[in-house]
Amino acid sequence: MALISVFIETYGCQMNLNDTEIVKSIMTASGASVASELAMANVILLNTCSVRYNAEERILNRIDFLHHFLKKQKRNAVIGIIGCMAERLKGKLFELSDFVSIVVGPDEYRKLPEITSNALKGSKDIAVELSKTETYSDILPLRKSGFSAWLSIMRGCNNFCSYCIVPYTRGRERSRDTTSILKEIDYLVANNFKEVTLLGQNVNSYSFNDTTFPKLLETIAIRAPKMRIRFITSHPRDMSDELIETIAKYDNVCNYVHLALQSGSDRILKEMNRRYTAEHFLDLVTKLREAVPNCAISTDIIAGYPTETEEDHKDTLHLMQKIRFDSAFMFKYSPREGTKAAKINDNIPEEEKIRRLNEVINLQNNISREKNALEVGKIVEILVENPSRKNTDDWVGRTDTNKVVIFNNKNKKYQEGDFLNLKINKSTSATLFGETIEE
Ligand code: 5AD
Ligand code: SF4
Repeated sequence: MALISVFIETYGCQMNLNDTEIVKSIMTASGASVASELAMANVILLNTCSVRYNAEERILNRIDFLHHFLKKQKRNAVIGIIGCMAERLKGKLFELSDFVSIVVGPDEYRKLPEITSNALKGSKDIAVELSKTETYSDILPLRKSGFSAWLSIMRGCNNFCSYCIVPYTRGRERSRDTTSILKEIDYLVANNFKEVTLLGQNVNSYSFNDTTFPKLLETIAIRAPKMRIRFITSHPRDMSDELIETIAKYDNVCNYVHLALQSGSDRILKEMNRRYTAEHFLDLVTKLREAVPNCAISTDIIAGYPTETEEDHKDTLHLMQKIRFDSAFMFKYSPREGTKAAKINDNIPEEEKIRRLNEVINLQNNISREKNALEVGKIVEILVENPSRKNTDDWVGRTDTNKVVIFNNKNKKYQEGDFLNLKINKSTSATLFGETIEE
Protein backbone atom coordinates (compact mmCIF):
# COMPACT_ATOMS: atom_id res chain seq x y z
CA MET A 1 0.00 0.00 0.00
CA ALA A 2 1.29 3.46 -0.93
CA LEU A 3 2.30 5.56 2.04
CA ILE A 4 -0.01 8.50 2.33
CA SER A 5 1.42 11.99 2.57
CA VAL A 6 -1.39 14.48 2.94
CA PHE A 7 -1.39 18.22 2.35
CA ILE A 8 -4.44 20.21 3.46
CA GLU A 9 -5.44 23.73 2.44
CA THR A 10 -8.06 25.40 4.60
CA TYR A 11 -10.66 27.94 3.51
CA GLY A 12 -13.50 29.59 5.45
CA CYS A 13 -14.00 29.99 9.15
CA GLN A 14 -12.12 29.05 12.32
CA MET A 15 -14.22 25.90 12.65
CA ASN A 16 -12.60 24.76 9.43
CA LEU A 17 -9.12 25.58 10.75
CA ASN A 18 -9.82 23.37 13.76
CA ASP A 19 -11.37 20.67 11.56
CA THR A 20 -8.19 20.57 9.49
CA GLU A 21 -6.24 19.89 12.69
CA ILE A 22 -8.72 17.11 13.53
CA VAL A 23 -8.31 15.60 10.04
CA LYS A 24 -4.51 15.72 10.38
CA SER A 25 -4.82 13.90 13.69
CA ILE A 26 -7.09 11.21 12.18
CA MET A 27 -4.76 10.77 9.20
CA THR A 28 -1.54 10.52 11.22
CA ALA A 29 -3.15 8.06 13.64
CA SER A 30 -3.73 5.80 10.63
CA GLY A 31 -0.05 5.94 9.63
CA ALA A 32 -0.15 8.80 7.10
CA SER A 33 2.24 11.71 7.28
CA VAL A 34 1.42 15.40 6.92
CA ALA A 35 3.32 17.07 4.07
CA SER A 36 4.63 20.54 4.76
CA GLU A 37 4.61 21.40 1.05
CA LEU A 38 2.15 20.78 -1.72
CA ALA A 39 4.83 19.27 -3.95
CA MET A 40 5.57 16.54 -1.41
CA ALA A 41 2.02 15.22 -1.05
CA ASN A 42 0.24 12.37 -2.79
CA VAL A 43 -3.11 13.38 -1.30
CA ILE A 44 -4.22 17.01 -1.49
CA LEU A 45 -7.31 17.94 0.47
CA LEU A 46 -9.12 21.27 0.24
CA ASN A 47 -11.17 21.98 3.37
CA THR A 48 -13.82 24.21 1.88
CA CYS A 49 -16.43 26.87 2.62
CA SER A 50 -19.86 27.35 1.02
CA VAL A 51 -21.01 30.48 2.75
CA ARG A 52 -20.88 32.66 -0.36
CA TYR A 53 -20.66 32.01 -4.09
CA ASN A 54 -17.15 33.52 -4.28
CA ALA A 55 -15.82 31.05 -1.71
CA GLU A 56 -16.92 28.14 -3.89
CA GLU A 57 -15.77 29.69 -7.15
CA ARG A 58 -12.31 30.10 -5.67
CA ILE A 59 -12.14 26.38 -4.86
CA LEU A 60 -13.15 25.33 -8.38
CA ASN A 61 -10.37 27.54 -9.78
CA ARG A 62 -7.95 26.11 -7.25
CA ILE A 63 -8.75 22.53 -8.32
CA ASP A 64 -7.89 23.44 -11.94
CA PHE A 65 -4.68 25.11 -10.81
CA LEU A 66 -3.68 22.08 -8.74
CA HIS A 67 -4.36 19.70 -11.62
CA HIS A 68 -2.10 21.71 -13.95
CA PHE A 69 0.53 22.11 -11.25
CA LEU A 70 0.65 18.35 -10.69
CA LYS A 71 0.81 17.67 -14.43
CA LYS A 72 3.69 20.10 -14.88
CA GLN A 73 5.55 18.55 -11.97
CA LYS A 74 4.75 15.10 -13.37
CA ARG A 75 3.38 14.10 -10.00
CA ASN A 76 0.67 11.62 -9.20
CA ALA A 77 -1.46 13.00 -6.45
CA VAL A 78 -5.19 12.75 -5.79
CA ILE A 79 -7.33 15.77 -5.00
CA GLY A 80 -10.12 15.69 -2.42
CA ILE A 81 -12.78 18.19 -1.42
CA ILE A 82 -13.78 18.08 2.24
CA GLY A 83 -15.88 20.38 4.43
CA CYS A 84 -18.92 22.51 3.65
CA MET A 85 -18.68 22.48 -0.14
CA ALA A 86 -18.38 18.69 -0.14
CA GLU A 87 -21.54 18.49 1.94
CA ARG A 88 -23.46 20.98 -0.19
CA LEU A 89 -22.56 19.73 -3.65
CA LYS A 90 -21.97 16.06 -2.83
CA GLY A 91 -21.52 13.86 -5.98
CA LYS A 92 -22.02 16.91 -8.22
CA LEU A 93 -18.42 17.79 -7.44
CA PHE A 94 -17.27 14.80 -9.51
CA GLU A 95 -19.29 16.24 -12.42
CA LEU A 96 -17.98 19.77 -11.89
CA SER A 97 -14.40 18.59 -12.02
CA ASP A 98 -12.77 15.47 -13.44
CA PHE A 99 -9.83 15.99 -11.13
CA VAL A 100 -11.68 15.41 -7.86
CA SER A 101 -11.51 11.86 -6.48
CA ILE A 102 -12.59 12.38 -2.86
CA VAL A 103 -15.67 14.14 -1.45
CA VAL A 104 -16.06 14.03 2.35
CA GLY A 105 -18.45 16.12 4.49
CA PRO A 106 -17.74 17.59 7.95
CA ASP A 107 -19.19 14.67 9.92
CA GLU A 108 -17.39 11.89 8.03
CA TYR A 109 -13.72 12.69 8.63
CA ARG A 110 -13.12 9.39 10.43
CA LYS A 111 -13.51 7.67 7.04
CA LEU A 112 -10.70 9.67 5.43
CA PRO A 113 -7.87 7.15 5.97
CA GLU A 114 -9.81 4.45 4.10
CA ILE A 115 -11.14 6.79 1.42
CA THR A 116 -7.76 8.39 0.67
CA SER A 117 -6.11 5.00 0.49
CA ASN A 118 -8.76 3.78 -2.00
CA ALA A 119 -8.35 6.97 -4.03
CA LEU A 120 -4.64 6.27 -4.40
CA LYS A 121 -5.61 2.93 -5.91
CA GLY A 122 -7.73 4.74 -8.48
CA SER A 123 -11.26 4.77 -7.08
CA LYS A 124 -13.49 7.78 -6.48
CA ASP A 125 -15.29 7.85 -3.17
CA ILE A 126 -17.81 10.00 -1.34
CA ALA A 127 -19.00 10.21 2.31
CA VAL A 128 -21.45 12.98 3.16
CA GLU A 129 -23.77 11.62 5.85
CA LEU A 130 -24.53 14.22 8.54
CA SER A 131 -24.53 13.05 12.13
CA LYS A 132 -26.61 14.05 15.15
CA THR A 133 -23.86 13.05 17.55
CA GLU A 134 -20.38 13.36 16.01
CA THR A 135 -18.21 15.91 17.88
CA TYR A 136 -14.76 14.28 17.44
CA SER A 137 -14.49 14.63 21.21
CA ASP A 138 -11.90 11.84 21.52
CA ILE A 139 -9.56 13.30 18.89
CA LEU A 140 -6.75 15.60 19.93
CA PRO A 141 -6.27 18.08 17.07
CA LEU A 142 -2.81 18.11 15.51
CA ARG A 143 -2.06 21.78 16.10
CA LYS A 144 0.41 23.90 14.20
CA SER A 145 0.76 26.64 16.77
CA GLY A 146 2.24 25.79 20.14
CA PHE A 147 0.70 28.72 22.00
CA SER A 148 -2.76 29.49 20.59
CA ALA A 149 -5.39 26.80 20.17
CA TRP A 150 -8.79 26.42 18.56
CA LEU A 151 -11.11 24.16 20.49
CA SER A 152 -14.54 23.17 19.14
CA ILE A 153 -17.15 22.85 21.88
CA MET A 154 -20.08 22.19 19.58
CA ARG A 155 -20.89 21.48 15.95
CA GLY A 156 -23.74 22.30 13.60
CA CYS A 157 -26.41 24.96 13.76
CA ASN A 158 -30.18 25.00 14.39
CA ASN A 159 -30.80 28.68 13.77
CA PHE A 160 -31.76 28.57 10.09
CA CYS A 161 -31.11 32.21 9.31
CA SER A 162 -32.83 32.54 5.96
CA TYR A 163 -29.66 33.31 3.93
CA CYS A 164 -27.32 30.78 5.51
CA ILE A 165 -26.16 27.44 4.12
CA VAL A 166 -24.45 26.31 7.35
CA PRO A 167 -27.36 24.32 8.88
CA TYR A 168 -27.39 22.30 5.64
CA THR A 169 -23.62 21.79 5.40
CA ARG A 170 -22.87 21.20 9.07
CA GLY A 171 -26.13 19.65 10.21
CA ARG A 172 -27.92 19.83 13.54
CA GLU A 173 -26.46 21.47 16.57
CA ARG A 174 -24.78 19.19 19.10
CA SER A 175 -22.65 20.03 22.12
CA ARG A 176 -19.47 18.19 22.91
CA ASP A 177 -19.26 16.47 26.28
CA THR A 178 -17.89 18.75 28.99
CA THR A 179 -15.41 16.20 30.35
CA SER A 180 -13.63 15.88 27.02
CA ILE A 181 -13.44 19.68 26.67
CA LEU A 182 -11.91 20.05 30.13
CA LYS A 183 -9.47 17.23 29.39
CA GLU A 184 -8.31 19.14 26.31
CA ILE A 185 -8.02 22.36 28.35
CA ASP A 186 -5.82 20.49 30.86
CA TYR A 187 -3.68 19.27 27.97
CA LEU A 188 -3.30 22.85 26.66
CA VAL A 189 -2.33 24.13 30.13
CA ALA A 190 0.18 21.31 30.62
CA ASN A 191 1.70 22.10 27.21
CA ASN A 192 2.09 25.78 27.94
CA PHE A 193 -0.55 27.15 25.59
CA LYS A 194 -1.29 30.82 26.22
CA GLU A 195 -4.61 31.23 24.47
CA VAL A 196 -7.64 29.13 23.59
CA THR A 197 -10.58 30.07 21.37
CA LEU A 198 -13.74 28.08 22.04
CA LEU A 199 -15.53 27.49 18.78
CA GLY A 200 -19.11 26.89 17.76
CA GLN A 201 -21.60 28.28 15.28
CA ASN A 202 -23.51 29.57 18.28
CA VAL A 203 -21.57 29.00 21.49
CA ASN A 204 -24.27 30.62 23.65
CA SER A 205 -26.52 27.64 23.16
CA TYR A 206 -23.89 25.16 24.40
CA SER A 207 -25.66 22.67 26.64
CA PHE A 208 -24.39 19.33 27.92
CA ASN A 209 -26.29 17.74 30.82
CA ASP A 210 -26.49 20.66 33.27
CA THR A 211 -23.62 22.68 31.83
CA THR A 212 -24.55 25.86 29.99
CA PHE A 213 -22.07 28.06 28.12
CA PRO A 214 -21.51 30.62 30.94
CA LYS A 215 -20.87 27.72 33.33
CA LEU A 216 -18.43 26.07 30.92
CA LEU A 217 -16.64 29.38 30.37
CA GLU A 218 -16.35 29.95 34.11
CA THR A 219 -15.03 26.43 34.72
CA ILE A 220 -12.38 26.93 32.01
CA ALA A 221 -11.46 30.40 33.29
CA ILE A 222 -10.80 28.96 36.76
CA ARG A 223 -9.03 25.86 35.44
CA ALA A 224 -6.68 27.78 33.11
CA PRO A 225 -6.07 31.03 35.04
CA LYS A 226 -3.03 32.08 32.99
CA MET A 227 -4.55 31.41 29.59
CA ARG A 228 -6.44 33.96 27.50
CA ILE A 229 -9.88 32.58 26.78
CA ARG A 230 -11.82 33.63 23.71
CA PHE A 231 -14.99 32.33 22.14
CA ILE A 232 -16.75 32.69 18.79
CA THR A 233 -19.42 33.12 17.73
CA SER A 234 -22.37 34.39 19.77
CA HIS A 235 -25.93 34.83 18.59
CA PRO A 236 -27.41 38.14 19.83
CA ARG A 237 -30.62 36.37 20.74
CA ASP A 238 -29.14 34.04 23.31
CA MET A 239 -26.44 36.20 24.85
CA SER A 240 -27.49 35.94 28.50
CA ASP A 241 -26.84 38.27 31.45
CA GLU A 242 -25.01 35.36 33.04
CA LEU A 243 -22.57 35.25 30.13
CA ILE A 244 -21.96 39.00 30.34
CA GLU A 245 -21.31 38.64 34.10
CA THR A 246 -18.83 35.83 33.45
CA ILE A 247 -16.88 37.95 30.94
CA ALA A 248 -16.80 40.78 33.47
CA LYS A 249 -15.81 38.55 36.40
CA TYR A 250 -12.79 36.73 34.98
CA ASP A 251 -9.73 38.68 33.88
CA ASN A 252 -8.54 35.90 31.62
CA VAL A 253 -11.81 35.84 29.64
CA CYS A 254 -10.98 38.28 26.87
CA ASN A 255 -12.78 41.59 26.61
CA TYR A 256 -13.90 40.85 23.11
CA VAL A 257 -17.20 39.64 21.71
CA HIS A 258 -18.20 38.92 18.12
CA LEU A 259 -21.90 39.64 17.77
CA ALA A 260 -23.27 39.43 14.25
CA LEU A 261 -25.80 42.19 13.57
CA GLN A 262 -26.43 41.40 9.83
CA SER A 263 -28.89 44.31 9.40
CA GLY A 264 -30.15 47.33 11.32
CA SER A 265 -33.66 47.11 9.86
CA ASP A 266 -36.28 45.27 11.92
CA ARG A 267 -38.12 44.25 8.78
CA ILE A 268 -35.01 42.70 7.22
CA LEU A 269 -34.01 41.07 10.52
CA LYS A 270 -37.44 39.43 10.57
CA GLU A 271 -37.07 38.32 6.96
CA MET A 272 -33.67 36.90 7.87
CA ASN A 273 -35.21 34.92 10.76
CA ARG A 274 -32.75 36.48 13.18
CA ARG A 275 -35.37 36.66 15.95
CA TYR A 276 -34.20 39.95 17.51
CA THR A 277 -34.84 43.62 16.82
CA ALA A 278 -32.42 46.50 16.38
CA GLU A 279 -33.51 47.73 19.81
CA HIS A 280 -32.72 44.38 21.45
CA PHE A 281 -29.28 44.41 19.84
CA LEU A 282 -28.61 47.96 21.03
CA ASP A 283 -29.73 47.08 24.58
CA LEU A 284 -27.43 44.08 24.56
CA VAL A 285 -24.45 46.20 23.51
CA THR A 286 -25.27 48.79 26.18
CA LYS A 287 -25.48 46.09 28.85
CA LEU A 288 -22.23 44.53 27.69
CA ARG A 289 -20.39 47.86 27.70
CA GLU A 290 -21.75 48.77 31.14
CA ALA A 291 -20.57 45.45 32.61
CA VAL A 292 -17.29 45.28 30.66
CA PRO A 293 -16.31 48.90 29.90
CA ASN A 294 -13.27 47.99 27.82
CA CYS A 295 -15.07 45.34 25.76
CA ALA A 296 -14.38 45.38 22.02
CA ILE A 297 -17.24 44.27 19.82
CA SER A 298 -17.00 43.10 16.23
CA THR A 299 -19.84 42.21 13.90
CA ASP A 300 -20.98 40.83 10.54
CA ILE A 301 -23.13 42.86 8.13
CA ILE A 302 -24.85 41.72 4.94
CA ALA A 303 -25.60 44.40 2.33
CA GLY A 304 -28.30 44.01 -0.31
CA TYR A 305 -30.46 41.25 1.15
CA PRO A 306 -33.48 40.62 -1.16
CA THR A 307 -36.15 43.34 -0.81
CA GLU A 308 -33.78 45.57 1.20
CA THR A 309 -34.87 49.17 0.52
CA GLU A 310 -32.77 52.31 0.71
CA GLU A 311 -34.50 52.99 4.02
CA ASP A 312 -33.54 49.53 5.40
CA HIS A 313 -29.96 50.14 4.29
CA LYS A 314 -29.95 53.55 6.02
CA ASP A 315 -31.25 51.85 9.19
CA THR A 316 -28.15 49.63 9.11
CA LEU A 317 -25.85 52.64 8.68
CA HIS A 318 -27.59 54.51 11.52
CA LEU A 319 -27.36 51.57 13.89
CA MET A 320 -23.68 51.13 13.05
CA GLN A 321 -23.17 54.81 13.87
CA LYS A 322 -24.97 54.40 17.19
CA ILE A 323 -23.14 51.25 18.21
CA ARG A 324 -19.70 52.02 16.84
CA PHE A 325 -18.32 48.49 16.46
CA ASP A 326 -14.56 48.07 16.80
CA SER A 327 -14.46 46.12 13.57
CA ALA A 328 -16.73 44.34 11.13
CA PHE A 329 -16.82 41.65 8.45
CA MET A 330 -19.00 43.01 5.69
CA PHE A 331 -20.47 41.10 2.77
CA LYS A 332 -22.67 41.44 -0.26
CA TYR A 333 -25.68 39.15 -0.10
CA SER A 334 -25.02 35.96 -2.07
CA PRO A 335 -27.94 33.60 -2.75
CA ARG A 336 -27.31 30.02 -1.62
CA GLU A 337 -29.44 27.38 -3.29
CA GLY A 338 -31.60 25.46 -0.83
CA THR A 339 -31.90 28.29 1.71
CA LYS A 340 -35.18 30.10 2.33
CA ALA A 341 -33.81 33.41 1.04
CA ALA A 342 -32.79 31.83 -2.26
CA LYS A 343 -36.50 31.31 -3.00
CA ILE A 344 -37.08 35.07 -2.83
CA ASN A 345 -36.17 37.05 -5.92
CA ASP A 346 -32.61 38.37 -5.50
CA ASN A 347 -33.92 41.76 -6.61
CA ILE A 348 -31.14 44.16 -5.67
CA PRO A 349 -28.99 44.82 -8.76
CA GLU A 350 -25.30 44.00 -8.41
CA GLU A 351 -24.16 47.67 -8.71
CA GLU A 352 -26.62 48.63 -6.00
CA LYS A 353 -25.35 45.86 -3.69
CA ILE A 354 -21.81 47.06 -4.31
CA ARG A 355 -22.74 50.69 -3.59
CA ARG A 356 -24.45 49.76 -0.31
CA LEU A 357 -21.60 47.48 0.70
CA ASN A 358 -19.09 50.25 0.00
CA GLU A 359 -21.09 52.68 2.14
CA VAL A 360 -21.11 50.16 4.97
CA ILE A 361 -17.36 49.54 4.59
CA ASN A 362 -16.47 53.25 4.41
CA LEU A 363 -18.51 54.03 7.49
CA GLN A 364 -16.96 51.16 9.45
CA ASN A 365 -13.44 52.11 8.35
CA ASN A 366 -13.97 55.61 9.69
CA ILE A 367 -15.34 54.30 12.97
CA SER A 368 -12.49 51.77 13.31
CA ARG A 369 -9.94 54.49 12.57
CA GLU A 370 -11.44 56.80 15.21
CA LYS A 371 -11.70 54.02 17.78
CA ASN A 372 -8.14 52.84 17.18
CA ALA A 373 -6.86 56.43 17.48
CA LEU A 374 -8.19 56.44 21.05
CA GLU A 375 -5.68 53.67 21.86
CA VAL A 376 -2.69 55.89 21.08
CA GLY A 377 -0.77 56.68 24.27
CA LYS A 378 -2.18 53.66 26.13
CA ILE A 379 -0.12 50.76 27.44
CA VAL A 380 -1.56 47.45 26.33
CA GLU A 381 -0.61 43.83 26.90
CA ILE A 382 -0.20 41.76 23.76
CA LEU A 383 0.33 38.09 23.07
CA VAL A 384 3.15 37.89 20.52
CA GLU A 385 2.15 35.92 17.40
CA ASN A 386 4.60 36.01 14.47
CA PRO A 387 6.72 38.20 12.18
CA SER A 388 4.65 40.43 9.93
CA ARG A 389 4.42 39.43 6.27
CA LYS A 390 5.70 42.76 4.98
CA ASN A 391 8.83 43.10 7.11
CA THR A 392 10.24 40.35 9.31
CA ASP A 393 11.78 42.85 11.73
CA ASP A 394 8.21 43.83 12.58
CA TRP A 395 6.23 41.37 14.62
CA VAL A 396 2.50 41.02 15.16
CA GLY A 397 0.69 40.56 18.43
CA ARG A 398 -2.86 40.87 19.65
CA THR A 399 -4.48 42.65 22.58
CA ASP A 400 -7.10 40.86 24.64
CA THR A 401 -9.61 43.06 22.78
CA ASN A 402 -8.42 41.28 19.61
CA LYS A 403 -6.71 44.31 18.09
CA VAL A 404 -3.63 43.66 15.98
CA VAL A 405 -0.48 45.47 17.14
CA ILE A 406 2.78 45.73 15.17
CA PHE A 407 6.06 46.30 16.99
CA ASN A 408 9.75 46.20 16.17
CA ASN A 409 11.40 42.93 17.19
CA LYS A 410 14.57 43.16 15.12
CA ASN A 411 16.75 41.59 17.78
CA LYS A 412 14.23 38.74 18.22
CA LYS A 413 14.04 39.45 21.91
CA TYR A 414 10.42 38.34 21.98
CA GLN A 415 9.14 34.97 20.80
CA GLU A 416 5.73 33.81 19.72
CA GLY A 417 3.63 33.10 22.78
CA ASP A 418 5.25 35.80 24.96
CA PHE A 419 3.10 38.31 26.79
CA LEU A 420 4.45 41.80 26.41
CA ASN A 421 3.46 45.36 27.35
CA LEU A 422 3.60 47.93 24.58
CA LYS A 423 2.93 51.63 24.40
CA ILE A 424 0.73 52.43 21.41
CA ASN A 425 2.18 55.29 19.37
CA LYS A 426 0.33 55.10 16.05
CA SER A 427 -2.84 53.65 14.59
CA THR A 428 -4.78 53.04 11.38
CA SER A 429 -8.28 51.65 10.85
CA ALA A 430 -6.98 48.07 10.90
CA THR A 431 -3.81 48.14 12.98
CA LEU A 432 -2.14 49.59 16.06
CA PHE A 433 1.61 50.24 16.25
CA GLY A 434 3.43 49.97 19.56
CA GLU A 435 6.85 50.29 21.10
CA THR A 436 8.35 48.29 23.92
CA ILE A 437 8.63 50.08 27.22
CA GLU A 438 12.15 50.44 28.63
CA GLU A 439 12.41 48.46 31.87
N1 5AD B 1 -24.50 35.99 1.68
C1 5AD B 1 -23.67 36.89 2.24
N2 5AD B 1 -23.15 36.75 3.46
C2 5AD B 1 -23.48 35.65 4.18
N3 5AD B 1 -23.13 35.24 5.40
C3 5AD B 1 -23.71 34.04 5.63
N4 5AD B 1 -24.45 33.66 4.58
C4 5AD B 1 -24.33 34.66 3.65
C5 5AD B 1 -24.86 34.86 2.34
N5 5AD B 1 -25.69 33.97 1.78
C6 5AD B 1 -22.29 36.03 6.31
C7 5AD B 1 -23.04 36.37 7.59
C8 5AD B 1 -22.40 35.46 8.60
C9 5AD B 1 -20.99 35.35 8.07
C10 5AD B 1 -20.23 34.17 8.58
O1 5AD B 1 -21.16 35.26 6.68
O2 5AD B 1 -22.80 37.73 7.89
O3 5AD B 1 -22.46 35.98 9.91
FE1 SF4 C 1 -17.41 27.87 8.12
FE2 SF4 C 1 -19.87 28.47 7.28
FE3 SF4 C 1 -17.88 28.49 5.56
FE4 SF4 C 1 -18.78 26.19 6.54
S1 SF4 C 1 -19.92 27.59 5.25
S2 SF4 C 1 -16.65 26.82 6.36
S3 SF4 C 1 -19.32 26.78 8.62
S4 SF4 C 1 -18.12 29.87 7.30
